[in-house]
Amino acid sequence: MIASRRIVLGVTGGIAAYKAAALARALVLAGAEVRTVMTDSATRFLGPATLAAITGTRPVVDLFDDPAVSPHTDLAAWADLVVIAPATTATLARLAAGLSSDAVSATVIAFAGPVVLAPAMHTEMWEHPATVRNVATLRDDGYRIVGPAAGPLAGGDVGIGRMAEPDDIVSAIDAALAPGDLEGLRVLVDAGGTREPIDPVRYIGNRSSGKMGNAIARAAARRGAAVTLVTTAEPPDDDRIEVVPVETAQEMAEAMWRRAPEVDVAVLAAAVADFRPARPADRKLRRTDGLEAVPLEPTPDILRGIAEMPERPFLVGFAAQVGDLAGAVDKARSKGVDLLVANDVSKEGSGFGTDTNEVVLVAPDGATETWPLLAKDEVAERLWDRIVALRGEEAPT
Ligand code: PMT
Repeated sequence: MIASRRIVLGVTGGIAAYKAAALARALVLAGAEVRTVMTDSATRFLGPATLAAITGTRPVVDLFDDPAVSPHTDLAAWADLVVIAPATTATLARLAAGLSSDAVSATVIAFAGPVVLAPAMHTEMWEHPATVRNVATLRDDGYRIVGPAAGPLAGGDVGIGRMAEPDDIVSAIDAALAPGDLEGLRVLVDAGGTREPIDPVRYIGNRSSGKMGNAIARAAARRGAAVTLVTTAEPPDDDRIEVVPVETAQEMAEAMWRRAPEVDVAVLAAAVADFRPARPADRKLRRTDGLEAVPLEPTPDILRGIAEMPERPFLVGFAAQVGDLAGAVDKARSKGVDLLVANDVSKEGSGFGTDTNEVVLVAPDGATETWPLLAKDEVAERLWDRIVALRGEEAPT
């Protein structure tokens, strides 16, 4: 969500201003275009030259000395999002009262889009009734507030009031930029590779890391959906996602089939084993036992099971292909999905374990659309854009 977005970083006068440099850098590294605005007192804590070097443009500090005629409205017109970090007690009070008495507050008041505030101050100031009132007003006005956290404060004190860490502010910005178009939707995702036991310590498995499914679950949660992720892999660190850990295809099938009738959209990104040992040993097999063959039997087809439900959700399957797409087109036609996402897992940067993926969307009528190699997060965002559009087409008028 942050890549290519225009973010104005406002810095106000507190000791946490030094962390604004790290935040600016994290935003630039995430691909955002960043411009900055500082209050006079912020410049006592952090040199404008530092922010200029990190972002490539000079901060606006003085509305009258700046070469632009109206720097605060220029910034406001340019930005997709404004973040104030740190936001001091005085800044919160100004914004709650609608005052535009410095470059930072003037920019915020001139801006109509999402604003993220990262307060930082001493515990007594954060807990003062006036600040509590101002924060409540700001929340009512639609400002998003991240932190403060508890920990060591300036002057050797310890308590609540530390500015949130730059990574947490980046996550809050990411969430604030998400469209929110999945609000009210229930989403079920599966991820990871199933493990089919041969004996209590050995299994048949595959190289799925769960990254693709995690990205889909995260993007859906960011956009407001209630998400359940059934997974064999390490889930994302996101408390908006309900995680159901499973191991085998059977467990995954039971978890998915139980929930599928109650959701609006199901996305099956897991690499489910097609076969499992027919008679797993109940004790560890020893070399000396000898083992000529492991007889296999088919696992349940989770996708087909959902496709055949009388009340089924909008259904998106994945297809791991090697080489050509013919198999994926057949799967899209025969498996009863609304959309199939095919990836050539033999391609560099695609498929198992990578952070990127090159996918081809296949419609049930066999029509295809190829996307370039993208970060899995970006594939997930685009996939949700497409699901929203396709569900919109299906909705009765
Ligand atoms: O987890 P990563 O490391 O990020 O890798 C991502 C991925 C390569 C695993 C993912 O992008 C992907 O391709 N997932 C589907 C892998 C797969 O099993 O493809 P398939 O063509 O064998 O299966 C087709 C569809 O049927 C899939 O949606 C699969 O989840 C589903 N299926 C398969 C077998 C089975 N018994 N039950 C199923 O529901």
